[in-house]
Amino acid sequence: MMKNFVSICDLTRDDISDLIQLALRLKDERKRGRFSRALEHKTVAMIFEKPSTRTRTAFEVAITELGGHPLYLSWNELQLGRGEAVADTARVLSRYVSGIVIRADRHSTVTEMASNASVPVINALSDREHPCQLLADLMTIYEKKGKLRDMKLAWIGDGNNVCNSAILACAIMGLSIDVACPPGYEPNGEVVRTAQAVGHVRVLTEPLEAAAAADVLYTDTWVSMGDEATAAQRTRDLSAYCIDKHVLHAAKDDAIVLHCLPAHRGCEITDEVIDGPHSAVLDQAENRLHTQKALLKKLLV
Ligand code: CP
Ligand code: NVA
Repeated sequence: MMKNFVSICDLTRDDISDLIQLALRLKDERKRGRFSRALEHKTVAMIFEKPSTRTRTAFEVAITELGGHPLYLSWNELQLGRGEAVADTARVLSRYVSGIVIRADRHSTVTEMASNASVPVINALSDREHPCQLLADLMTIYEKKGKLRDMKLAWIGDGNNVCNSAILACAIMGLSIDVACPPGYEPNGEVVRTAQAVGHVRVLTEPLEAAAAADVLYTDTWVSMGDEATAAQRTRDLSAYCIDKHVLHAAKDDAIVLHCLPAHRGCEITDEVIDGPHSAVLDQAENRLHTQKALLKKLLV
């Protein structure tokens, strides 16, 4: 197992399969009131440069339930907010804590933290990737479908950070992925080329073409954190990229619908779909807890 979790590519297919199995076991144990004390006497720093509901809460609960101490550090209350170097912060925090979770605007901030820290660093979302999200997504697909290999996922909407991680995760785990996005909203080109070298990835423009015979439909906001200045333009450009009943109808009859949340109901997904029988979004959100707990056990213990 690697030291850091900066990209979903830091894990092999076997690593991800092992993490999903561990997360399933931890989920079952939690239901039965059984908890491991694997992080006893360990503190994990959690640096957030942007807001978070799921990632922060799931990590805080996971660390607490493992007997450790989560230390939430808001960017602007750290000296980072006044310009202290990321590298110096990484070296200093490494003297105190057993691991660093970081959500940052720029992916380079996460990689700089990882290359200067002597403790494991976990990417809790950057502008390029959201690897923790994909662990929960893969676990959810596995729970609902009983397998990952040869499943077909359709991403509808902005080719953003979550989409990049989804493309890489599908390539690693043997799912095919079709992305439907308007011109100018394609996922990262390097990510697509890397994934196409080992997996089946298509970048299309038609939502119904991408959704055809899909096992999993996935979408995310049209306006990610940091994109607020262009929100109106994005909303116009992406208005045809909504998972509604027509897109759902194009997918397999037993397709599941994922959304990493927060959702913008009536934009990238309709109420009818997100609240409907195909939606797996609450299980997906819950699985953030179990997969992040599994990740912490593998990296920090
Ligand atoms: N999906 C996700 O990462 O949500 P938060 O931004 O609330 O952490
Ligand atoms: N793409 C979204 C994901 C939020 C969890 C963002 O970066 O804001």
